[in-house]
Amino acid sequence: MCGIVGYVGYRDCSDVLVSALTKLEYRGYDSAGIAVFENDKIAVAKSKGKLQDLKDKMEIEGKLQGFAGIGHTRWATHGEPSDINSHPHSGKRVTLVHNGIIENYTELKDFLISKKREFLSDTDTEVVAHLLDYYYNKVQDPITAIIDTMQELKGSFALGIVFADYPNVVYAVRRESPLIVGIGKDENFIASDVPAIIKYTKDYYLLEHDEIAVLSKNGVEVFDIHNQPVQKELKTADWDVDAVGKCGYPHYMIKEINEQPNAIKNTVSPRIKDGLPCLEECNITTDSLKDIKQIYVVACGSAMHAGVVGQYVIEELARTPVTVDIASEFKYRNPLVGEGDLVIIISQSGETADSLAALRLAKNRGAKTLAIVNAMGSTIAREADMLIYTHAGPEISVASTKAYMVQLSVMYLFAFELALAKGRIDEEKCRYYTAKLLETSDMVKNVIDASTEISQKISSKLITADSLLYIGRGLDYALSMEGSLKLKEISYIHSESYAAGELKHGTISLITKDMPVIAVATQSDLYEKTVSNIKEVKARGAKVIMICQEGNDVPKDIANYVLQVPKFEELLLPMLVCVPLQLIAYYTAVQRGNDVDQPRNLAKSVTVE
Ligand code: F6R
Repeated sequence: MCGIVGYVGYRDCSDVLVSALTKLEYRGYDSAGIAVFENDKIAVAKSKGKLQDLKDKMEIEGKLQGFAGIGHTRWATHGEPSDINSHPHSGKRVTLVHNGIIENYTELKDFLISKKREFLSDTDTEVVAHLLDYYYNKVQDPITAIIDTMQELKGSFALGIVFADYPNVVYAVRRESPLIVGIGKDENFIASDVPAIIKYTKDYYLLEHDEIAVLSKNGVEVFDIHNQPVQKELKTADWDVDAVGKCGYPHYMIKEINEQPNAIKNTVSPRIKDGLPCLEECNITTDSLKDIKQIYVVACGSAMHAGVVGQYVIEELARTPVTVDIASEFKYRNPLVGEGDLVIIISQSGETADSLAALRLAKNRGAKTLAIVNAMGSTIAREADMLIYTHAGPEISVASTKAYMVQLSVMYLFAFELALAKGRIDEEKCRYYTAKLLETSDMVKNVIDASTEISQKISSKLITADSLLYIGRGLDYALSMEGSLKLKEISYIHSESYAAGELKHGTISLITKDMPVIAVATQSDLYEKTVSNIKEVKARGAKVIMICQEGNDVPKDIANYVLQVPKFEELLLPMLVCVPLQLIAYYTAVQRGNDVDQPRNLAKSVTVE
């Protein structure tokens, strides 16, 4: 969703702001803007569209010149994408950018209109700018005015603020929406996420809920909502600049698909001791697992799909019941969650609003919570009782690939440890599974190499389809869900995943020669049954792409394409089979000429409900 940056230092501020915003493009946006102190006056440039549109506009109207300012990429919530609705917004002497949603903006707007304030845009952000200016008028002190304004605001916000009376000073504040303060030498930054500043500095402060930062060229001060100074712990990002660059790949998505073998290794290896899973550093011990009666996995999108694979594996190995919930449904269905339950929240960003709300609900009801999160220091990571970081590194492409892969690997590790703790598998079996999990790193690399060409070929046959069906049973069905989401979100071809055995109960009526079917059939015990379902769709004219294991006896003429993955421990096959599904989605989107890394309407980090 929206991205915020801010800079104060000695470099050309416009260049820094636009370059930093480029690194936040992955969050999704439809307009962009910056405000820069030009000779002690605040100048604003903003435009609907991409950052290139903003740059083109500045080319014509003049680049903003100065050494301090704020910038923004907007993902429209209140009001359509337009020049006027783009940030920054101003209220007389205050100019600001905002990420989040102000829930009570209508009543605040009415109040401000009664004070003769005039509004140009449809946004909730402009209301904040005027409210802040209103308080600033009264108290004549930026921090006190910010605190007074925060007391009035309901909802989530991260703000970057400049006051016309305080040239070359940038203020920042956050509630719920993430914000970091980058610490450089003779320069300082604010940003929604680390990739924006990594080119300039790796050192940063994580701004906490309701903290206010004041940045000048020579230093940063942080205050709490009572205007008391706060000592911050300096954090250092452990990635290099390459981690946030494309490194020669045409898209982040394909780079990230290729990073999966390493991501698995980095995530799994440190959690293995004497050949067995060891999650003690994550606050998870054998004793703490023994008494778990019911597990809820709650997440959104691909993260939720990783949870569905986890459900099959945990129930199979640990014989513990698992319910998987979509986070936005979980919190409104008054779930029967409480003491003795374990709620697992899976999230790449650690900031997804619905997943965060589910976590808080689970904690309030007395359940133990475990977060599986990729983004270090994110809100979900900090609020859960137990935490397993996935070490995928930054995921920039909106479509999740490597983060999904490592979420799977953690679900496996957790399932093995739980099954051992509950005495459902013995140490020998656990060691076997753990060793196999480690092997997936090399196996995934082989599968990427072996399936690239055929995935390209298959994609070339899919690009004209209007709709697709993914089918499978058991773990293959869990995987089909992810394959289908990946394809639709970046290729814009409608697709659905369906339990193969359920087809005859309605959906098979959709099958024609124009409806390609991707059938996943990797599980031996279900193979014959899925093959029967494939025959049924083939008989009705569907073009079939079948994904199965090498050595499977594939009946003649059953499929137009057969894509085989190496024989491997079947419980772990989803980690291999998701690779061709990712590649098929990727190449289909590329061949359709789509913006693969920033699909339309989507945001990487969904910080509003
Ligand atoms: C799809 C995708 C999304 C995310 C979902 C949850 O490719 O990336 O479906 O998985 O928005 O996001 P996180 O994991 O950040 O909570």
